[in-house]
Amino acid sequence: MNERDSFGSKFGILVALAGSAVGLGNLWRFPYLVGNNGGAVFIILYLLFLTIICLPLMITEFVVGRRSQSNVFGAFKVLSQGKSGKAWGKIGFISVISALVILSFYSVVGGWTVDYITQAVCFNFKEGLDYEQTFRYSSENAFRPLIFTLIFLLFTAVVVIMGVNKGIEKYTKVMMPLLFVMVIMLAIRSLTLKGAGEGVKFLFRPDWSKFTIDTVLSALGQSFFSLSIGCGTIITYASYVKRNENIVRLSTETALMDTLFALLAGTAIMPAVFAFGLTPAEGPGLVFVIIPQIFSQLPMGGIFAILFFVVLFFAALSSSISLLEVMVAYLIEEIHWSRKAAVAISSLSVTVLAVLCSLSLGMLKHVTLLGNNIFDFMDKLSANILLPVGGLLFVLFAGWKMTDKEYFDEITNEGSLHFSPVFLKILRFIVRFVAPLVIVLIMLVSFLK
Ligand code: PFF
Repeated sequence: MNERDSFGSKFGILVALAGSAVGLGNLWRFPYLVGNNGGAVFIILYLLFLTIICLPLMITEFVVGRRSQSNVFGAFKVLSQGKSGKAWGKIGFISVISALVILSFYSVVGGWTVDYITQAVCFNFKEGLDYEQTFRYSSENAFRPLIFTLIFLLFTAVVVIMGVNKGIEKYTKVMMPLLFVMVIMLAIRSLTLKGAGEGVKFLFRPDWSKFTIDTVLSALGQSFFSLSIGCGTIITYASYVKRNENIVRLSTETALMDTLFALLAGTAIMPAVFAFGLTPAEGPGLVFVIIPQIFSQLPMGGIFAILFFVVLFFAALSSSISLLEVMVAYLIEEIHWSRKAAVAISSLSVTVLAVLCSLSLGMLKHVTLLGNNIFDFMDKLSANILLPVGGLLFVLFAGWKMTDKEYFDEITNEGSLHFSPVFLKILRFIVRFVAPLVIVLIMLVSFLK
């Protein structure tokens, strides 16, 4: 078999990982959650969960991926050596399915971003336009969203087909720095608007009166989703990381970059929303209805609109690339297909589901699964079932099936890196006891709600 592809530089690994983490979640969910859950109160809680749960889980996904040098399915098989290998391999299979399900609705939204870039480039966002109606046309029409979804998936497939080093690394190295520069430009513009102060207060002033049990759950859920924990992307990327890299440092830097981007996104969006006297929202309503409305009234708003939708597109693309690679690595290594065939078949499977998701907002509105349209069903299936179940099995595997020695050997690069013994003990304790308990708790609460 050919030698495995791998990342060429530390910077390349970091931007690819940050690319997976930084996504729609940072732009259309984080700012709203912060503002509506007590500003600084939410940020502190988010940082707390990020540090004590998500970072240890990310380091652990790194351990599993790099130690096995294998795709998500193979990783558990290799590490559980022999007898129970096949059974544990199924955990990896859940991740492959999660990636497929997430990508099916994520690529529809990716399609909308391409649509909005073309509209921004044509300077379509004029004052007085009915933006709800415009968005309905872009998302509910039978053909238009399908075409843009296909274009988005084509971008994703083209990068993945070129491989880890010559595709994913090469393109995220260009996209991620640009993404940061553009979001900083948007944040400066937003902060310098008259009346921006209210938005800054909405984001950062601690307000305990908005603190509820939902605040805790939202902070926890958002930290998992934002760091792409539990769906195999980190395991897959980590399997392309060289043995001499410091995985604790890489994980910490990724988490820091993701958080920094989320805060910048909040600063780019909320001050502008308040400066124009609009009401904050989350999700599609925020980025596809409220934001274009703002740009239509801003001097040189047309240019900023292009900038904003390119940011959204890059953020979505770098995440979808990581999701497609989970499936592709599995097909190449377990089914022994060529990369081209693997990309073609997995993109095709995503396309079928994506078409259903897209049509479920218009033509197939009446088709429901457990009370949800197909789009929402996919979203809930991944967030409430696949990710927590996959995450729980993964953490039980790393905590209880892998030995302490294997775990620590991987973190310390077989003893060549030194970490404080207290840090290592706490890390192991979190993986064995705290993380499984927290995941079970989240699942219980979300079922009981
Ligand atoms: N982290 C991405 C976001 O915040 O939008 C979403 C995501 C990407 C989740 C990749 C899971 C994943 F594997």
